[in-house]
Amino acid sequence: MAIELASQGAKIVLSARSSDKLEAVRAQCKRPDDHFCLPLDVTDDVARQAAYQALMDRYGQLDVLVLNAGVGQRSTVLETNQRVERRIMEVNYFGYTALTHLVLPNLVKLNQGQIVVIGSVMSFVATPRRSSYAASKHATQGYFESLRAELFRTNIKMTIICPGYIHTDISVGALNGAGQPFGEMDDQHRNAMPAATFAQKAVNSMCRNKSLVFIGGPERFGPLLSRLSPALVRFLLPRIITRD
Ligand SMILES: NC(=O)c1ccc[n+]([C@@H]2O[C@H](COP(=O)([O-])OP(=O)(O)OC[C@H]3O[C@@H](n4cnc5c(N)ncnc54)[C@H](OP(=O)(O)O)[C@@H]3O)[C@@H](O)[C@H]2O)c1
Repeated sequence: MAIELASQGAKIVLSARSSDKLEAVRAQCKRPDDHFCLPLDVTDDVARQAAYQALMDRYGQLDVLVLNAGVGQRSTVLETNQRVERRIMEVNYFGYTALTHLVLPNLVKLNQGQIVVIGSVMSFVATPRRSSYAASKHATQGYFESLRAELFRTNIKMTIICPGYIHTDISVGALNGAGQPFGEMDDQHRNAMPAATFAQKAVNSMCRNKSLVFIGGPERFGPLLSRLSPALVRFLLPRIITRD
């Protein structure tokens, strides 16, 4: 998404924990010197505030907040340590809400800007071995729909983008029940939509101020199907999804 946004003229501030990977992405962006990296763990209060201050010192303003940091899960409830459950919520849910608390006051003051939330098909359905991940995404969906309603009379836009399977490292870094990375890319993600294709569609959606979009393969229809026929989805899911 950073590469795609940069190609359309945006100045990007890239954040995640791994500064080497951030710099590699920045180098692939059009006009790399226009962008900068602020390494950050979204669960770290001090780091979040320092990063936001550095951003404001440099630009004086943030127009678009893209909430994307996330960690997956590969374990049943019985296998999952409760510390792992909390860790997934800390990154996927509280990471998003904390960054929103930092950025929102200035957006409201200026009465402009956009919040882009990367949710998931799992914000609406829940498959086996994803209990905490699905919970974090369901919680995120509720939080940002509520915020969207609160911002109704402002010029602040909100776009919630829900990916299905996208070819990224999400399964590699997904936590097992003991909190260790799963360590491999599963078939669903290996054969999924390329990240660059996702990024084009996602950036297109945010530029058009779409409210809620689903991007991916046929699985992107899961949320709609679960609303139309929840019993059918409850029947099918555990039969279709038998492995990672
Ligand atoms: N790929 C899919 O099929 C899929 C489907 C639905 C939703 N999503 C969502 O898409 C988003 C991006 O995931 P992805 O697919 O691109 O997976 P990914 O390749 O594993 O990327 C996850 C990103 O989050 C960052 N991150 C993880 N923990 C962090 C932390 N504590 N602080 C700051 N950054 C952190 C990672 O960087 P560092 O490790 O360097 O911090 C990395 O940049 C996530 O919200 C995920 O839930 C993905």
